[in-house]
Formats: sequence, C-alpha cells, structure tokens
Amino acid sequence: AETKKIAVIAGDGIGPEVVGEAIKVIRKIEELYEYNFEFQHGLFGGIAIDEKGTPLPQETLEICQNADAVLLGAVGGPKWDNNSKELRPETGLLGIRKALGLFSNIRPATVFDCLKDASTLKPEVLEGTDLIVVRELTGGIYFGEKFRREGANGEEAVDTCVYNVQEIERIVRQAFEIAMTRSKRLASVDKANVLETSRLWREVVNRIAPEYPEVELEHVLVDNCAMQLLRRPSSFDVIVTENMFGDILSDEAAMLTGSIGMLSSASLGEGSFGLYEPVHGSAPDIAGQGISNPIATVLSVALMFRLTFGYADAAQAIEDAVKEVLDAGHRTGDIAVDKSKAIGTEAMGELIVNAIRKI
Ligand code: NAD
Ligand code: IPM
Ligand code: MN
Repeated sequence: AETKKIAVIAGDGIGPEVVGEAIKVIRKIEELYEYNFEFQHGLFGGIAIDEKGTPLPQETLEICQNADAVLLGAVGGPKWDNNSKELRPETGLLGIRKALGLFSNIRPATVFDCLKDASTLKPEVLEGTDLIVVRELTGGIYFGEKFRREGANGEEAVDTCVYNVQEIERIVRQAFEIAMTRSKRLASVDKANVLETSRLWREVVNRIAPEYPEVELEHVLVDNCAMQLLRRPSSFDVIVTENMFGDILSDEAAMLTGSIGMLSSASLGEGSFGLYEPVHGSAPDIAGQGISNPIATVLSVALMFRLTFGYADAAQAIEDAVKEVLDAGHRTGDIAVDKSKAIGTEAMGELIVNAIRKI
C-alpha cells in the first residue's frame, strides 16, 4: 500500500508520553499489515513558544498540511498560563483547527463493560451507554471578537459568539449522517431559550431534519442535557452541539467511561483529512511521572485508521487489543479501583502493542 504521511505534534505535559505509546501501536500495525507510515514531527504549543516564539510555527502548519493525517498530544501548562493571547499554547490549538478547516469534532464515549467500576456513576446507570458528541469546532464564542474596554464601572471584557447558517448546516448535516449509521437518534443541544445563536441553530436543524425522516430528532437545552447525561446516559446516541457546549459536555461524558484518559477524538473537515487527539489536556499535575493513561491517544489512532485511511481492519485490531488488556484487569491509575495495582504509561502501551493481532 502507499505510504501514509502522519504529522506528529506531541506538544506539552503528558502529550509526548501518550503520543509515544500511540506511535508504538502504529509501528506494530505496520509489522502485521501491509500498511506503511511515515512520521513528520513538528513543534507545537508551549514548547514551540519556548523554542520558536509562537505556539504554531509556520513550519509545523506546513508539515500538517502536507500530511494525510495529524496525531496530536496535548498543549498547555502553568508556565504559559499568564501569557498574552498570541503567546498561549491554546491559541495554537485553535489556530491549527481553523487553518486546517476542521469544523467537526467527533468524540465517542463508549463504556467498556469491565470499566463500569471505574466510573463515579452507578453501574446500572451506565448500562448500554454508547454515545458520540459531535462538536462544532471552528466557530462560536471561541472565535468571535474578543477585547477589553473601559466601561462605566471600569475595565470590561467582551467575548462575542457568532454563528452563520453555513457553519451550522455543515456540522448538523454531518451529525445526521453519523446518526444514520447508528441507532438513528439525534439530540441537538442548545440554549435557545436565551441565546440568539442557539435560536438560529435550532431553526437550521429543523430545516435540515426533513432530509433525514428516519432520524428521531430531539432538541435539548444544554443545562438539561448536562443533567440527563448523568441521569440516563444510555438515552443518548448522537449529540450535536456548538463549540463551547461540546467542550464541556464531552468532558462530562468522559466520566461515563471511567476517565478523561479514555476519550478519543477526530477533527474533520470536508475531505478525508483529519486531526486525531485525546480529549484530555496536558495534565500538568501528573506530567513527567510516566503514569498517564495512553488509551485515549491509542483509540484516536484507531479513529484515524478508520476515518481517514479506511483501514477498518487495523482500527478494529487496535480497539480489540485495548479491550483485551482492560478485560484482563490492567489499569493505569486514573481507571484503577485499587490504585496500588496501577501500571504506568509505557507498561500499558506495551500490553496493548502485544495484544494487537492481525484480523
Ligand atoms: P486535563 O485534561 O489536562 O486534566 C484534567 C485532570 O485529568 C487532571 O487531574 C489530569 O491529571 C487528569 N488526566 C487528564 N488526562 C489524563 C490521562 N491521559 N491519564 C490520566 N489522567 C489524566 O485538563 P486541565 O487540567 O484542565 O488542563 C491542563 C492544561 O491542558 C491546560 O493548559 C489546558 O488549557 C490544556 N488542555 C489542552 C487540551 C488539548 O491540548 N487538546 C485539552 C484540554 C486542556
Ligand atoms: C479541548 C480543549 C481545548 C478546547 C482548549 C485547550 C483550547 O479543552 O480540546 O477540548 O477548549 O477546545
Ligand atoms: Mn476540552
């Protein structure tokens, strides 16, 4: 098969640790299958600020633009938390999503049966939970104009939230398409009782809905959704929502799976190109200790193989290996009930690599 080019931007904190294990998984797939991969590494985030004076160097962006897919770790950390907007790692993350046209962020929350005890929720509440958050990724309050000004009572800060019809249409269509491949249930989450952008969102959803008569659509207000996710998570299948709501709800959904260290994501645009990253951040509190959970990043590789490369067999092999290792009782600290038996990042990575088989 032709060699696929993967841009690797590991970033800060636990980013390099978890990406390191994901790369071992990709190498194992290369050994077992006829697939070939080539890695191009780029500086990104805080480390790029330190070494190049910007969180997203032009060179890194070009490496990503010339690749078939991007594997990203995480960015950020206390060292850069008081920097101005241009010199923040997170600004690089928003910049790369925008520059690559990645408007759709897919975040699956699948509950592994054997991890039910790792969640803070009761096992019977989690029964049958398997949902996907489809998050709009390049609009809304993240990208609207931001500024400070002098108000009547002193300094004020302004963040504006803007959505146009086209931005809403493309993400909503994608969510309907995904719902059609699953149980045909779609929850559109908004705050239409208060926000004008949400009222437009709901109008657009209702306009598109007749194109998918088989999909059972419900509109859910975001505060209620946050509550229902804990009350009856299995009632959700596909959730589509705007940028900030999707950010918050997906971290909440992570706890259904037991840990934020389990949640993978795919960021897509119009074509097959995609950026794949764990939902979690750089975890400065545990960085450098070798104890982070690499599974979110490993499962992001499986998404990359399935959604960008069309390597469904290799994707399945990775997911099966993760399940096998978890079923055998191996746990990193974040998902361990008995923390004294927890294993480290590399040990977990090695177990997964050894469990990958050709199917
Ligand atoms: P976080 O996701 O980094 O960490 C939250 C908690 O979850 C921490 O206690 C952490 O130890 C734990 N955790 C996260 N990933 C884990 C893993 N793989 N294994 C075990 N435990 C894990 O969120 P935060 O602490 O709010 O943010 C830290 C930094 O990361 C901030 O600078 C933030 O801006 C950044 N961030 C980056 C991304 C990204 O790059 N995509 C995402 C979220 C946050
Ligand atoms: C995520 C992160 C980012 C976001 C931050 C770090 C900019 O929380 O990928 O979920 O809010 O999109
Ligand atoms: Mn987030």
